[in-house]
Amino acid sequence: MDLFSAIDTEPVRQQMEQLAERIDQLNHEYYMNDRSLVSDQEFDALLRQLQDLEAQYPELASPLSPTKRVGGEVNKSFRQVEHRFPMLSLGNTYSMEEIEEFEARTRRLLDGEEFSYTCELKYDGVAIGLTYRHGQLVQAVTRGNGAVGDDITLNAKTIPTIPLRLRGDFPDDFEARGEVVFPYDAFEAFNRQREADGEEPFANPRNAASGSLKLQDSAECAKRKLMFCMYFMMAPDGTTTLPDTHYGRLEYARQLGFKVQPYIKECKDIAEIKAFIDHWDRARWELPFGTDGIVIKVNQTALWDRLGLTAKSPRWAIAYKFKAERVSTPLQSIDYQVGRTGKVTPVANLAPVHLGGTTVRRATLVNADFIASFDIHQGDHLFIEKGGEIIPKVVGVDIDRRPPASLPVQYIDRCPECGTPLVRPEGEAAHYCPNADGCHPQIIGRLEHFVSRKAMNIETLGPERLELLYRAGLVRDVADIYSLRREQLIGLGDEATIQDKGADNLLAAIEVSKEVPFERVLFALGMRYVGEVGAKKLARYFKDMDSLLAASEEELAQVEDVGEVTAKAVHDWLARPEHRRIVERLRAAGLQMSCRQTALGNQLDGLTFVVSGVFERFSRDEIKTHIEQHGGKVSGSISGKTSYLLAGEKMGPEKRKKAEKLGVSILTEQEYLNMVGQ
Ligand code: IVH
Repeated sequence: MDLFSAIDTEPVRQQMEQLAERIDQLNHEYYMNDRSLVSDQEFDALLRQLQDLEAQYPELASPLSPTKRVGGEVNKSFRQVEHRFPMLSLGNTYSMEEIEEFEARTRRLLDGEEFSYTCELKYDGVAIGLTYRHGQLVQAVTRGNGAVGDDITLNAKTIPTIPLRLRGDFPDDFEARGEVVFPYDAFEAFNRQREADGEEPFANPRNAASGSLKLQDSAECAKRKLMFCMYFMMAPDGTTTLPDTHYGRLEYARQLGFKVQPYIKECKDIAEIKAFIDHWDRARWELPFGTDGIVIKVNQTALWDRLGLTAKSPRWAIAYKFKAERVSTPLQSIDYQVGRTGKVTPVANLAPVHLGGTTVRRATLVNADFIASFDIHQGDHLFIEKGGEIIPKVVGVDIDRRPPASLPVQYIDRCPECGTPLVRPEGEAAHYCPNADGCHPQIIGRLEHFVSRKAMNIETLGPERLELLYRAGLVRDVADIYSLRREQLIGLGDEATIQDKGADNLLAAIEVSKEVPFERVLFALGMRYVGEVGAKKLARYFKDMDSLLAASEEELAQVEDVGEVTAKAVHDWLARPEHRRIVERLRAAGLQMSCRQTALGNQLDGLTFVVSGVFERFSRDEIKTHIEQHGGKVSGSISGKTSYLLAGEKMGPEKRKKAEKLGVSILTEQEYLNMVGQ
């Protein structure tokens, strides 16, 4: 930078710094102290101002800018990182006697020493370690195997309760550990959205939190509203002095800007520990996030060394795990729900019962095998449990309360909706109704999936309108949507719910959906096992509908992440004449039936690449697209026709051997970039 530009940009740099500080402050008040100092609009305006300046002066943008909270950068791969301090786990127990033994043993080992305990919640999430140097977050790593974890720094930066820059008098070099949790509210909203988008919901907040940290797109992680609960702080020996009690360290961490939950207590004896455990065993259901127990730590950190470690865990701490709460309640009846694929799910209607803070009325019975394995009889009392997961589960039958002479539950053999005999495909646990075209919930379910946000995204066509159009005989399959005419729509509904404007908006939204990319059209078709990601992979691999229609099962199975089961399902689906007709009608209506490739060059014309390993600048999908955009072809396996093997890091040795055997040249990422002139 020359002298003039240095002088020029200084005021801008200062302005950016001030904006960042102000936004950090507002974030802190909002997330740590539940206080809004400005309106959402004002906040957004400040953030936008900073974003604009960063776009204009990228060289002045800080990697710790609060704009990083919204994400946007893409994780190419999650680098493996060795932990500076191994991430130990804790001894754990469900038994109060063992907690008493732990306490007595600790007292014996510390032989007359004055000490206390800190009791805190055991957060039910994903453990991560955050390294701070000079008050700045430099790295976030998952627990992994305790010695080596994954670098998830980009995603961690999007979590508002992880401070990017510390406040106050911070230690120069230390690690903060804690748990990333998915608060119940945010988790449920997120799962509802997933279902509306035709995706499988996550089983519980912990799995969802774990999946979120491993998302490639950090902007997607930012949307998930995760929370970080700090529970541990450590510094390398001799460099830094931290407070000498664990409790003190947590308070100190709070001053530095971490979110430390208020549910911590210093306990002086076993009676206080037990009281804390008993309290939270009952009160845990009122917390906004999941906890699966209580962690008890010796408070005086100087005593930790004296107590030492066992093979895997410290002797100065232990976790008491809450037992899953269990009740029994009578089974009143069973509903059999039919999904869009025809899959039948039995659901138990239960006498309402209180369990872990909510009233349970229904619970899934999964499938016929599940019912048979518990030998469930009519009128049985079922045991229901609610563990760390918020979804209640049937875990058994209370045999002692079985009504006399009650008969085993007979699984239905006909569809409860349309009466068609059910089938159970070989190797599958579920029953299906095969009447895809005549069974109401299947037809409506497919339509709902087709118009959902991540598919064709025809917002104005909600479930009620679809039902209306179906009952009016206007829409029976997804292709019918594109034949709707204005005069058919107006006045539709019991109270003429669709009027001029509604009809115009609906037709406009349908028109817009014709621009939805091919990969989403594929997803919208609702083939079994083909989710959003699978559809993308299929689209990228085959490029257009005709190649996909012509593909054999073996070819389909070549596609990354498409296994044999999915390959067969896709092949079977595409082979059915009624599906081919729908595809042709959609094509005629003008939907996208091929990937729109923006060609960037033709340097790779006539060359075929096989791509393997992990790359520095691209994800694997990106590099494949890049090859195609420069005129090259990508193939799944090395053969005599392969021009180059493009090798990233960690490429399998088999691939290399095969390439060498067939005399295929091996390219590094840099050599490849040179080849396309970048
Ligand atoms: S302390 C050396 N405190 O439970 C002690 N752990 O098996 C480090 N956890 O891996 C752990 N809440 O992921 C501690 N308040 C808490 C915790 C907590 C959840 C997790 C953590 C650890 C596992 C112990």
